[in-house]
Amino acid sequence: MFIKRYYSKLFRRRSRRSILLKLILITFCFGAFIQINYNAFYLLSQDNYGNLTLCTNTTRNKTILNCSGDPLKQWCKNEINLCHSSISIYNKIFFVTHSVILQTKFAQGKRLGGEDIQTVLNQAEKDEYFQFNKEFLKLPCDISIPKDLSLANHLSSVLSSITPYRTCMDVHLRINETTIAVNRQDYVNIYHTMTDLYTVYLLCRFFQRDPKSVRILFVDAHPKGNLDIFWSKLFHSYTRLGQLKKYPTIFYQELIWSQPQLNSEIDLQRDRRQAPSFFFDFRDHILKQFNVPFEYKKPIDCNSLQIFLLCRRNYVAHPRNPTGKITRQLQNEKQIINDLNKVFANNSKINFTYNYYENLTMEEQLKITTQKDIFIGMHGAGLTHVLFLKTNRTLIELTTAQWQSQIHYELWASMNHVHHHFCSSKDGSAASAQTILNCINLKISQMCPSMTVNSLHSNQTIKLTPTVSKNISNSTIHR
Ligand SMILES: *[C@@H]1O[C@H](CO)[C@@H](O)[C@H](O)[C@H]1NC(C)=O
Ligand SMILES: *[C@@H]1O[C@H](CO)[C@@H](O)[C@H](O)[C@H]1NC(C)=O
Ligand SMILES: *[C@@H]1O[C@H](CO)[C@@H](O)[C@H](O)[C@H]1NC(C)=O
Ligand SMILES: *[C@@H]1O[C@H](CO)[C@@H](O)[C@H](O)[C@H]1NC(C)=O
Ligand SMILES: *[C@@H]1O[C@H](CO)[C@@H](O)[C@H](O)[C@H]1NC(C)=O
Ligand SMILES: *[C@@H]1O[C@H](CO)[C@@H](O)[C@H](O)[C@H]1NC(C)=O
Ligand SMILES: *[C@@H]1O[C@H](CO)[C@@H](O)[C@H](O)[C@H]1NC(C)=O
Ligand SMILES: *[C@@H]1O[C@H](CO)[C@@H](O)[C@H](O)[C@H]1NC(C)=O
Ligand SMILES: *[C@@H]1O[C@H](CO)[C@@H](O)[C@H](O)[C@H]1NC(C)=O
Ligand SMILES: *[C@@H]1O[C@H](CO)[C@@H](O)[C@H](O)[C@H]1NC(C)=O
Ligand SMILES: *[C@@H]1O[C@H](CO)[C@@H](O)[C@H](O)[C@H]1NC(C)=O
Ligand SMILES: *[C@@H]1O[C@H](CO)[C@@H](O)[C@H](O)[C@H]1NC(C)=O
Repeated sequence: MFIKRYYSKLFRRRSRRSILLKLILITFCFGAFIQINYNAFYLLSQDNYGNLTLCTNTTRNKTILNCSGDPLKQWCKNEINLCHSSISIYNKIFFVTHSVILQTKFAQGKRLGGEDIQTVLNQAEKDEYFQFNKEFLKLPCDISIPKDLSLANHLSSVLSSITPYRTCMDVHLRINETTIAVNRQDYVNIYHTMTDLYTVYLLCRFFQRDPKSVRILFVDAHPKGNLDIFWSKLFHSYTRLGQLKKYPTIFYQELIWSQPQLNSEIDLQRDRRQAPSFFFDFRDHILKQFNVPFEYKKPIDCNSLQIFLLCRRNYVAHPRNPTGKITRQLQNEKQIINDLNKVFANNSKINFTYNYYENLTMEEQLKITTQKDIFIGMHGAGLTHVLFLKTNRTLIELTTAQWQSQIHYELWASMNHVHHHFCSSKDGSAASAQTILNCINLKISQMCPSMTVNSLHSNQTIKLTPTVSKNISNSTIHR
């Protein structure tokens, strides 16, 4: 279609001149069709197609990848270059395109994304995604995708949307800076957002791009979310594809297509207990961008043990949960807080506090978390904060029998060298103050064996019997 349009324009223009020229041209066309087209594009776009005409020079320096650690080593080994390396596919999970033209009208969807949540309450989930149709992407060559190659989710349709362009073409916007296209799924859940952020951070390190200079392109159409701030803090900035629709064509020097959320190296599905490549750099990068001081290896101070209970409150953050009601909440939260306050109040070596994070800024949340030695919370995305605890600290995950099989935070604790402890009452129901206290006391006895703590129903102090201190890799598996 593209070729036809340009060819017919060429033909019309020439035909105004002489019939002879036209005949010569047609004859020549039969002889060297491809060659003619190539030159014609070059000439025409120079004088007729105006402002932002682009004649790409596909010669560019080869990107030097960083192949250190798992999984980057594997990604490096598993590289497929197509189309004179205009496209490179890694480990069959993501790809990078160079000198690529994005034709925005071929991304079809009901919404643009970035709406205020109150204006789109109860919208269907499918309205928050684009459909990528043929011609959406254009590369400066013919591409034939290997038959056995099938990428997950949106990446397969983006890949099969690719059509060629020749040397020159009009574009309405040119982006020279490295950009990473992200199709977020769960975008207001901090667990899933963190998995996406890590993926994109890892891509920056893999391609050796400074995260703070990399642009993010959301190719989903989600409304505004309270976690969007992570994307502008960790990277240069973000833009939504929907908002770029005013530009019919956009040229990107380097556009990286990030793998979908569930393919993240730190997602539950990978079942990892060991930190993947650049995991600690990722955590440090977040804390640095939020100006939170952090000393990962600081020893535990048993004369001032910081114990924290994360509480939960109903909060509207999701278009398909308009009441904001959360399902996992301590029924008797007030009572538990009172009881624990009482028990620890007279212990000068323990600083017990609690808070609701929903109302705090991310900076405030991170500042609190990073100071804590024992972090207690109900199973749920708030426990993502386990990533920001110092080494050898403890996460106590309040749970019920029903949720105990969910090891999201246990895995992250293990990666971050934090002890993890599932805490539930024997009958599998939600924890009471007594159960929680027992769990806390057990962990105190392991972290600070000489400490004494109070029991719940009297002011009598008890000396804890130190249990055998297990080493990190084993105690994280302890339930
Ligand atoms: C070309 O771009 C310049 C600056 O962006 C603009 O002022 C001008 O109107 C454009 N010309 C055409 C013919 O589009
Ligand atoms: C493309 O770029 C390379 C290196 O920058 C240069 O040597 C070459 O002449 C350029 N080709 C064209 C057609 O401009
Ligand atoms: C390629 O690398 C060389 C040396 O680092 C640099 O001088 C040159 O500008 C680079 N070319 C491009 C097209 O980036
Ligand atoms: C990859 O990153 C690591 C850690 O920053 C660095 O030590 C190493 O030199 C890098 N490798 C390459 C090939 O640049
Ligand atoms: C992008 O790079 C090209 C070639 O290096 C340059 O001519 C153009 O001005 C740059 N555009 C922007 C917006 O920086
Ligand atoms: C963490 O705990 C392990 C085992 O108890 C110990 O060997 C290590 O020194 C501790 N690390 C720090 C930084 O305190
Ligand atoms: C106790 O914790 C709170 C909340 O994190 C903190 O502001 C305070 O400084 C801590 N107090 C001591 C004595 O550590
Ligand atoms: C917490 O948030 C709610 C709703 O956003 C607001 O009404 C309330 O004032 C906030 N409370 C505090 C202590 O910031
Ligand atoms: C609390 O301790 C005091 C003395 O230390 C004692 O007199 C009192 O009976 C105790 N109260 C309870 C409820 O055990
Ligand atoms: C804490 O100490 C105060 C006075 O120092 C005392 O009245 C209170 O009973 C104590 N509470 C507990 C739970 O031991
Ligand atoms: C910790 O446990 C691992 C796995 O069981 C073992 O290989 C390692 O030697 C242990 N380390 C210490 C300090 O006991
Ligand atoms: C740690 O766990 C592994 C298997 O999970 C076991 O083989 C090993 O003996 C344990 N080590 C200690 C010190 O408990």
